[in-house]
Amino acid sequence: MSMAAIMTGEQWALIDPKHFRDVMGSYPTGVCVVTAQGEQGERWGLAVGSFTSISLDPTLVGFLPDKRSRSWERMAETGRFCVNVLGADQLATCQRFASRHEDKFEGISHGTSPGGLPLLDDVLAWIECDIARTVELGDHLLVVGAVRAMQRMTGDSPLIFYRGGYHMLAGIDGTLT
Ligand SMILES: Cc1cc2nc3c(=O)[nH]c(=O)nc-3n(C[C@H](O)[C@H](O)[C@H](O)COP(=O)(O)O)c2cc1C
Repeated sequence: MSMAAIMTGEQWALIDPKHFRDVMGSYPTGVCVVTAQGEQGERWGLAVGSFTSISLDPTLVGFLPDKRSRSWERMAETGRFCVNVLGADQLATCQRFASRHEDKFEGISHGTSPGGLPLLDDVLAWIECDIARTVELGDHLLVVGAVRAMQRMTGDSPLIFYRGGYHMLAGIDGTLT
């Protein structure tokens, strides 16, 4: 089959969206809240499972916001974002930032990163980025961030999203070789 044939809408339609989500849900992800701040002090954020490390030299990370994300539309204009890696005890924070709540930061304790972006309390790590590139891919965008500052914090298990539910780490006996 030629690449052109694979790329047609007809071919793509063969995979049912529900089936796609169901199968892809077998790949577990961590959960982060990507935040940004406007010039008038407005704060935005959205929960994201698609965050990933991309490159070591230069240091690049990325995530994939839905094109329909109202938050990302405004965050993109600021040119910067901060990734907040959630711990297993931050499920309520995840749910708030996955909602369409008018002020997602209401009642959420947070400070600011060195670059002045919203930094949530008690996260496992944070990564501050400039937007290096944005690529349209289907109904999502791939946003590539150039890392400007980052820090690992204390904390135990990450919040894990897997097959439609939330989990925490259950370690197995194994080390990175
Ligand atoms: C565990 C989890 C992971 C998510 N991952 C993504 C993601 O990678 N990209 C995305 O666009 N939305 C993701 N969402 C959904 C967004 O958080 C949600 O659609 C968004 O916050 C809606 O509000 P907005 O329109 O203000 O962006 C995720 C939600 C949850 C609960």
